[in-house]
Amino acid sequence: MVKDLRVTLSGVELKNPVIPASGTFGFGQEFLPFFDPDILGSLSFKGTTLQARAGNSTPRIAECPAGMLNSVGLQNPGVEAVIAHELPELRKVFHGPVIANISGFSVEEYVRCAELLTREAQVEILEINVSCPNVHNGGMAFGTAPEAAAEVCRAVKRVATKPVYMKLSPNVTDIVSIARACEDAGADGLSLINTLLGMRIDLKRRKPVLANTMGGYSGPGIFPVALRMVYQVTGSVKIPVIGMGGISTARDVIEMMMVGASAVQIGAANLVNPFACRDIIETLPVEMEKLGIDRLSDIARV
Ligand code: SIN
Repeated sequence: MVKDLRVTLSGVELKNPVIPASGTFGFGQEFLPFFDPDILGSLSFKGTTLQARAGNSTPRIAECPAGMLNSVGLQNPGVEAVIAHELPELRKVFHGPVIANISGFSVEEYVRCAELLTREAQVEILEINVSCPNVHNGGMAFGTAPEAAAEVCRAVKRVATKPVYMKLSPNVTDIVSIARACEDAGADGLSLINTLLGMRIDLKRRKPVLANTMGGYSGPGIFPVALRMVYQVTGSVKIPVIGMGGISTARDVIEMMMVGASAVQIGAANLVNPFACRDIIETLPVEMEKLGIDRLSDIARV
């Protein structure tokens, strides 16, 4: 039987739940040699800030046994260049709904980026990243206190004409309180989890591997943590949740949907295997058949 992979996020229909996570797929161009992006449910583009950013000093990637650390530091060309150059190129190769990932260092910066990106026809969801662990005085600072996250959410909601999803940090003691604060502030949905703050030491140099000392840990090692947090959040809010964190197989996708995720993002797996999203999309019907699932949207939360 043909399997139905469609899911809906705040009225936006995706042909399947598979979305490359922001920062692991650029603006789509790098993956053109591997597969046609039009197979994807959606695509969350690289975290965009008001001004262009070169990112942190290198080394800013460290491999780990079950994942990787990054301290990229929000390298991006700035919102005006994204609108002038990246989105027109993306439009040529991807015709589905795009998720605009927005980062900032002040509430005003989030608002200005949201004002500009909400006008773009292909952008159907704004994902507000209050969880980047790699920058000072911004990013995660807004996502680790309920009131700060709510303030960003309220301000962005005032200018947004598209659904607003707040991207949450796992580096908190109580992610549910932050999720609830965002829901109360008007968020249309949530994305979680971003990376876990970590570090590695270069034994020979007796120094941190990363120039920025710490970075965000992602990859299969964090999957159980992500699953637990998505389970806790979906049990406490009514808005949809995009689940992410270490997903690398179709079975992981189904597991994430069984804890209540409405769609999923694939991050570090893209950097290990550029075909990861394609493989997951192709394997989903096979795994659904084994589990007796005809429609992904029928999966009930455990
Ligand atoms: C980065 O560019 O530092 C990664 C973005 C993030 O973790 O939110």
